[in-house]
Amino acid sequence: MRPGGGRSGSRYNRGFPNPDIRKLPIMNRPSRLVLSVSLVLAVAMLAACNKKEAVPEEETAKLIQPVARVETAAAAPAAAGGPIDGKKIYETACAACHATGAAGAPKAGDKGAWGPRIAAGKESLYKSALGGKNAMPAKGGNPSLSDDEVKAAVDHLISLAK
Ligand code: HEC
Repeated sequence: MRPGGGRSGSRYNRGFPNPDIRKLPIMNRPSRLVLSVSLVLAVAMLAACNKKEAVPEEETAKLIQPVARVETAAAAPAAAGGPIDGKKIYETACAACHATGAAGAPKAGDKGAWGPRIAAGKESLYKSALGGKNAMPAKGGNPSLSDDEVKAAVDHLISLAK
C-alpha cells in the first residue's frame, strides 16, 4: 500500500471544503489566551492564599491610602466650584510647611518673616508660589491647583501676617 494513500487524515483535511471551519482555530486564539491568563491568575491566587491567609483587603487599603488621600486633598478645592477659599487651600496645600516653618518656610502670621516679602509686592509672591522658590516646589508641590487657587492661598498668607 502506498504511504498516504486512502482517506488519510492529511488528505482529508487538505480537501476540507468548509472555510468557516478552517477559520475556527484563528478565531479561537484570543479565547485561548484569555483562558491561559485566567489559569495563571487562578494559580497565582491559589499560591498567594496558601502562603498568607490575610494579605487581602486591609493591607491593600493601607497601601493605596496615601495616594487616595492626596487625591482627595487635591480635588477638594477644585471640586467646590464656588468662590475660591484661600484659607482652605492654604490648609490643604501650604500649611504643611508654612504652619510650622518646615524646610525654612516663613511661618504663617510671622510678621518679621513676611514683612520684607510682602514689601516686595504681591505679584512677586504670586510668582514665587506659582513657580517655586528654593525649597518650595511650584504651587507648593500641588500642580493640580489652579493659578487662582494658589494666589488665593498667597492672599491668605499675606492676610495672616498683617
Ligand atoms: C514644601 C514646603 C512648602 C510648601 C508645601 C509650601 N511652601 Fe511656600 N515656601 C516654602 C519655603 C521654604 C519658602 C521660602 C523660600 C525662600 O525664600 O527661600 C516659601 C516661601 C513662600 C512665599 C514667599 C515667597 C517669596 O517670594 O518671598 C510664599 C508667598 C509662599 N511660600 C506661598 C506658598 C503657598 C501659597 C503654598 C501652598 C500652595 C506654599 N507656599 C506651600 C516652603 C513651602
